[in-house]
Amino acid sequence: MTLFRLDASIRVDGSHSREIADIVEREWLGAYPGNPVIHRHLAVDPIPAGAWATAVGASPVPADQRSPEQLAATELAAQAVDQLVEADALLFAVPLYNFGVSQHFKTWVDLVITDPRMAAGVESAIAGKPAVLVTVRGGSYAAGTPREGWDHATGWMRRILADVWQLDLRVVETEFTLVGVNPALDQFKALAADLRREAEEEARAHGRSLTSAVPAARGTIAA
Ligand SMILES: Cc1cc2nc3c(=O)[nH]c(=O)nc-3n(C[C@H](O)[C@H](O)[C@H](O)COP(=O)(O)O)c2cc1C
Repeated sequence: MTLFRLDASIRVDGSHSREIADIVEREWLGAYPGNPVIHRHLAVDPIPAGAWATAVGASPVPADQRSPEQLAATELAAQAVDQLVEADALLFAVPLYNFGVSQHFKTWVDLVITDPRMAAGVESAIAGKPAVLVTVRGGSYAAGTPREGWDHATGWMRRILADVWQLDLRVVETEFTLVGVNPALDQFKALAADLRREAEEEARAHGRSLTSAVPAARGTIAA
């Protein structure tokens, strides 16, 4: 049983999204001790910025006529999709940056979609796999707050993972991770602590549901 985990935080230490994803991963390993977890940290090992455009340009070119750059880009896409296809469950940890999607995550998603197994209009090669998305935000975008509607990442990620790729998706969200860092947010300390506690509980629950969803998903495929 293999878990594929992707992290997009631009830091390794002190990352809230990584800490919350660690909880999900621990639940998984509790159910499948010693089983492999494939880690991909996009900020540590980023997708080259030009790979997506090169892979798109390569798609109409027959494989035996592709340039070395096109072959490298399509191979990179194929490796990314292999990691998804070979996993039994998927875990994504992606923060909000500049009111939008992490550029590392967007570049990776775009590259994945260039592979024929994940192309628009074909049945997703990973449809039905159980998945958890952990996403964190420094500020608050709750209903009624001044920045309500400014989070342009979470809706897009749900759209791609649940609707386009048809994953069996659960989402853990938390906000106000900049409380304690930005003194202007000190008044929200208690709220931030509550939100964090709720996110950790949700991460445990979603981690457990990830493990319970796997045999069902496999049964569906076998049937
Ligand atoms: C360059 C940069 C841009 C950010 N932009 C936003 C933003 O637009 N909105 C927000 O709420 N938080 C923003 N943040 C804060 C991060 O979302 C927050 O620190 C989060 O916890 C980062 O994830 P991590 O803790 O897993 O590293 C930004 C942080 C950085 C470093």
